[in-house]
Amino acid sequence: MPRIDARARLDFALFARQAWAAQVYPCLVDEVRKRAGALAETSEDLDRWTERVDKVAPFVWQSSIYPFFAWLERGLQKQLWRATSEVVSESPTTLEIDLGDSESDGTLELDGETELPKWYAECDFHLQPGGVWPSLANGEVYKLGAQVVMLGANDQAQFHRLFTDTAIPDRDYRRIVDLGCGFAKSTFPLKQRFPHAEVIGIDLAEPLLKMAWAQARRDGIVVRLRQADCRSTGLDGASADLVTATMLIHELPLYAVEEMLAEVARLLRPGGLLRVLDFHPTGDPLRDLAMMEHSERNNEPFLADLFKADVIKLCGKAGLADARWVAFDERGAGRLNEAVWPKRKEWHFPWAVLEAVRP
Ligand SMILES: C[S@@+](CC[C@H](N)C(=O)[O-])C[C@H]1O[C@@H](n2cnc3c(N)ncnc32)[C@H](O)[C@@H]1O
Repeated sequence: MPRIDARARLDFALFARQAWAAQVYPCLVDEVRKRAGALAETSEDLDRWTERVDKVAPFVWQSSIYPFFAWLERGLQKQLWRATSEVVSESPTTLEIDLGDSESDGTLELDGETELPKWYAECDFHLQPGGVWPSLANGEVYKLGAQVVMLGANDQAQFHRLFTDTAIPDRDYRRIVDLGCGFAKSTFPLKQRFPHAEVIGIDLAEPLLKMAWAQARRDGIVVRLRQADCRSTGLDGASADLVTATMLIHELPLYAVEEMLAEVARLLRPGGLLRVLDFHPTGDPLRDLAMMEHSERNNEPFLADLFKADVIKLCGKAGLADARWVAFDERGAGRLNEAVWPKRKEWHFPWAVLEAVRP
């Protein structure tokens, strides 16, 4: 249990993020609309002004609220990592790695030789000092931070279960591969929904895989966890019926996304499915501009490029067919049937599902 003052800091970080999303963002929208409205001669002009990101940008940058919105976003993220680091350093974790008696208990496949790409090892993604891979403590800090970042709505993997339940069609999958599985919050719901499938989580970060393994053993979940790059998993070609990746591709440079998609096409059997949960422009220019600039504020160096890229085209280039993005509503509906996001007043991440099939 964290000390009471550390607990208070975590609660404050959570509360402040909620207030920032629910209260500061709508004020920004109001101000930008007023500024754009003052310049527009008719309501049609106003629609045109706000039609595209580059048109709305000057109004956003000149607004008095945007610097505060941006400063708060970055400051709260830094505060989150300070608070979580404090909690973790109070009670350092040690993990007993029990490898189980046989392969029927699942496997943990660590590879001390795995070379970490420079852009992975040298980047403090989402401002977490040192990233997720150097130590168990870094992994624990990330795990705790992931709860707060989701505004408290994902403590029990509700978000990942929603993805698994609404974005994955019912089929008799034999092998499912979850790329960038982290500490397996995205992997376990797949095994729970498809208990007969062999479920394999792939990640570069050894500490996260060890944490996932410890939880799998504790909860009796049989999975295969493998340390590898998502672009060269070392798994057999044409061996998977479903490949998933949640919150992975915005952390890859675009050329690595292309290489990952080629690996997905190699891994899937004909008729096999790809389902990616990540971010996609919503078509609301103010929201999309704020998200592109979140890329810099939150140290997500590849996110803006992903936002501007034609990922559907990249899927086709990799040999995947019927690719499309659809919206994802994390409040409960999950996958929606089209790329139309419900109108919302508050700030939210533009969650979306990328779907494709191996012909
Ligand atoms: C934001 S986390 C998401 C983790 C998990 N999918 C979830 O939804 O909780 C991104 C994960 O991708 C992993 N990752 C990043 N680049 C990777 C790569 N090239 N190959 C394999 N894993 C990678 C990171 O180590 C991290 O665990």
